[in-house]
Amino acid sequence: AQNPVRVLVTGAAGQIGYALVPMIARGVLLGPNQPVILHMLDIPPAAESLNGVKMELVDAAFPLLKGVVATTDVVEACTGVNIAIMVGGFPRKEGMERKDVMSKNVSIYKAQASALEKHAAANCKVLVVANPANTNALILKEFAPSIPEKNISCLTRLDHNRALGQISERLNVHVSEIKNVIIWGNHSSTQYPDVNHATVKLPSGEEKSVRELVADDAWLNGEFISTVQQRGAAIIKARKFSSALSAASAACDHIRDWVLGTPEGTWVSMGVYSDGSYNVPAGLIYSFPVTCQNGEWSIVQGLSVDEFSRKKLDLTAEELTEEKALAYSCLS
Ligand code: NAI
Repeated sequence: AQNPVRVLVTGAAGQIGYALVPMIARGVLLGPNQPVILHMLDIPPAAESLNGVKMELVDAAFPLLKGVVATTDVVEACTGVNIAIMVGGFPRKEGMERKDVMSKNVSIYKAQASALEKHAAANCKVLVVANPANTNALILKEFAPSIPEKNISCLTRLDHNRALGQISERLNVHVSEIKNVIIWGNHSSTQYPDVNHATVKLPSGEEKSVRELVADDAWLNGEFISTVQQRGAAIIKARKFSSALSAASAACDHIRDWVLGTPEGTWVSMGVYSDGSYNVPAGLIYSFPVTCQNGEWSIVQGLSVDEFSRKKLDLTAEELTEEKALAYSCLS
């Protein structure tokens, strides 16, 4: 049998955590043959609730789950982990200034970066889910300088999957027949869901462009984009809670594709450290189209970017540059 992989989930007593840990224990993250040991971290006020989640994991008798560490100690949580999914963070509460929320998250991600750097397994892969996801990931990268930047990412796969879902509903085709949408930029309402390179596989086996099949540029350049951008808020309005199920599922998709690879000819969206591709400023964590092979992502190169798209890529980059400055101002 394979050696178990240690997977850290921070904020494990929260909404997403509660949806995510059973998926991991069922093999959704790394496949049905890979045993796992779950490390769950939360803060002391949530310790009792976290222990309740641990009790349920025991009760679920998952065949792949070889152990559970449930703790409020960051060092214990990070020790030996191969994959870290960072869901814990400080939520924005009514009446709070943006800078105050940023400041709380900067200090959380600074501390957790150091713990991961010192105690995680070599080559640990990190996925930041907690908002502001891109900037939290950037802070984590800055304060864990010995973790290669290739190993630090943030979640925009939920937005990517939402874009696929909208096209699927519009064209009445199954979501698995659609591929190569792109989420560019920030996991925020300035993100740019781009269908210019997306295709649909028809029953004949032929691939056709989404833009051609939808044949409604006004919808694709308007309502489609805003629906994907605003989907998180729409779910909160409907459910009174965040989109925990779909976020957990997207986090599994993100890690699984990263570790096991993307199918030939298919790309996915990941928030990764910009190298300046597509004239996105280097040094931001920005969502790009990527393919993955042998446990490494690479940004898909050479896609055409029209004028409409260029403006949207720049707008979301500007927001990230500004977030980065705000985060740095919290450090000093
Ligand atoms: P939640 O409030 O239900 O859970 C957050 C958990 O984090 C709580 O249990 C809290 O005690 C814990 N926590 C707070 N500070 C911590 C720390 N320093 N260390 C460890 N744990 C800590 O929130 P929910 O709905 O589970 O969402 C979690 C985060 O994910 C939020 O920041 C949310 O905005 C974000 N999110 C991101 C999405 C994405 O696509 N990137 C999608 C949906 C949510």
